[in-house]
Amino acid sequence: MRLILGILILLAILKLVTCQDDGSDLGDDGSDSDHPSDDLSDTSSEDAGTSDTSDGSDMTDTTDATDATDNLGTSDNTSPTDSGSVNPTACTALNQWYTSLNGTGWAARTGWGTTDMSTCCTWYGVECSILGQVTKIRLGSNRLQGQLPNNLNMLPDLTMIDLSNNRLYGPLPDTLSSVTKLQSFNANFNELNGTLPTAFGSMLALTSVYMRNNSFTGTVPDNWESSLTLTDLYLGSNKLTGPFPTALTKLTKLEYLVIDNNGFNGALPNEIGNLVNLFTLNLKNNNFYGPIPSTIGSLVRLNTLTLSSQALNGTIPDTIYNLVNLEKLDLSNNRLTGNLSPKIGSLVKLTKIMMSHNGLTGDIPDQFGSLTQLQSVMLNYNSFNGQFPATTAPLPLGFCNMIPNQFQTCPDKSVLGNVESLAFQCSVDCGLITGTTKKKSSGVQVTHSIGKICMALFVSIIALLL
Ligand SMILES: *[C@@H]1O[C@H](CO)[C@@H](O)[C@H](O)[C@H]1NC(C)=O
Ligand SMILES: *[C@@H]1O[C@H](CO)[C@@H](O)[C@H](O)[C@H]1NC(C)=O
Ligand SMILES: *[C@@H]1O[C@H](CO)[C@@H](O)[C@H](O)[C@H]1NC(C)=O
Ligand SMILES: *[C@@H]1O[C@H](CO)[C@@H](O)[C@H](O)[C@H]1NC(C)=O
Repeated sequence: MRLILGILILLAILKLVTCQDDGSDLGDDGSDSDHPSDDLSDTSSEDAGTSDTSDGSDMTDTTDATDATDNLGTSDNTSPTDSGSVNPTACTALNQWYTSLNGTGWAARTGWGTTDMSTCCTWYGVECSILGQVTKIRLGSNRLQGQLPNNLNMLPDLTMIDLSNNRLYGPLPDTLSSVTKLQSFNANFNELNGTLPTAFGSMLALTSVYMRNNSFTGTVPDNWESSLTLTDLYLGSNKLTGPFPTALTKLTKLEYLVIDNNGFNGALPNEIGNLVNLFTLNLKNNNFYGPIPSTIGSLVRLNTLTLSSQALNGTIPDTIYNLVNLEKLDLSNNRLTGNLSPKIGSLVKLTKIMMSHNGLTGDIPDQFGSLTQLQSVMLNYNSFNGQFPATTAPLPLGFCNMIPNQFQTCPDKSVLGNVESLAFQCSVDCGLITGTTKKKSSGVQVTHSIGKICMALFVSIIALLL
């Protein structure tokens, strides 16, 4: 008997601990902050080797990072030991990088700074083909500082350039157009400015372009529509403006399109539905307005759809419920109206659903109960005014916030007290649960309210046992 009692108490304590953890991982999700890393940043893993974890990392998920590593991390070519085969022109060009980009301050610079222009295949971060052609440069996170020399014409065999996470400033050099074999270009997290280079429009093997967190202006050049091999395009956190770039709607091989935190505006084009290979689409924090095109329903491979913080209005198109591979759906901070369709139940892979700060009305559909993978639900700051369902939710739902809303019908007390019910796990405007937190909501308060419930549960279990 005593043993059973002990186990029960232990279980109760465990539950308490679990409860307190709930929600905390999503921190200030419910806040009004325009910090872009909140809602959907899974692992904060960075594409292509940049090490920033503070920002702009939303929607970059593990798969994506793995891809980037694959692209950039292959080392199929070995440096030739026969230094006689190295092209001294290429070494000279690299030596100019060393002097222009404050080489003596670099974190790693083995081999660099020599006067022997036949050895660059052995310098830190330089990779050559067996013919002695410089094919890859990996100088990410290495304290490079300055303006990139305009000598890329001396490095025509490059297939990969990684200069991410440094302090490069000024425009990209014109001679970038000489690097016609380029497959992957990574300049994430620098201070580059000027317009996006037209050079990327004429590279026949280009698959990946990472240019997040710089200060590029203007828009995507029209000739990028010829970059038909592009699969990964990251242009987030720049100063790009103008309507949704037409060129992008032609890039049908795209798997990752991330243009968040820019100043793009206007309506989303129907042609966005051409991008049928997209896995991630992130348009967050631009100034797009008008309806979500129903053609979005053609993007059936989508795993992550982020359209938050714009001025999108109208109803959620029914076609969105065709996106059966969606795991993360973020439509928060828009002006969406109408109901959440019962068809939401077809999105069985959903783990995160973010629709807070809109004008959605009606019911929370019973079909929420089919979403067995749910970890995080943000439907707070809407105008839901129908039923709150008696359905269960996967236990424990990591985070759920539904206030304020104005539900007319709430489940009865037995449901509200059932730890497996959606109502129990969420903060709902159904007197019993949210009496004290009705006015305002934030991650912190929700955590508190869940914590309180758990504490109450814990205390009552103990009381029962004694
Ligand atoms: C170059 O790097 C060194 C060492 O980090 C630093 O002291 C120096 O200020 C840098 N030079 C310039 C021009 O920034
Ligand atoms: C780019 O930045 C440099 C300094 O980093 C500045 O002198 C130049 O005016 C900027 N150019 C544009 C087009 O903003
Ligand atoms: C990335 O860009 C965002 C938005 O412009 C900015 O808030 C953030 O500080 C930048 N992060 C870094 C590491 O530069
Ligand atoms: C959406 O907003 C636009 C202006 O941005 C307005 O003209 C249009 O009527 C709105 N549509 C709906 C359905 O509210």
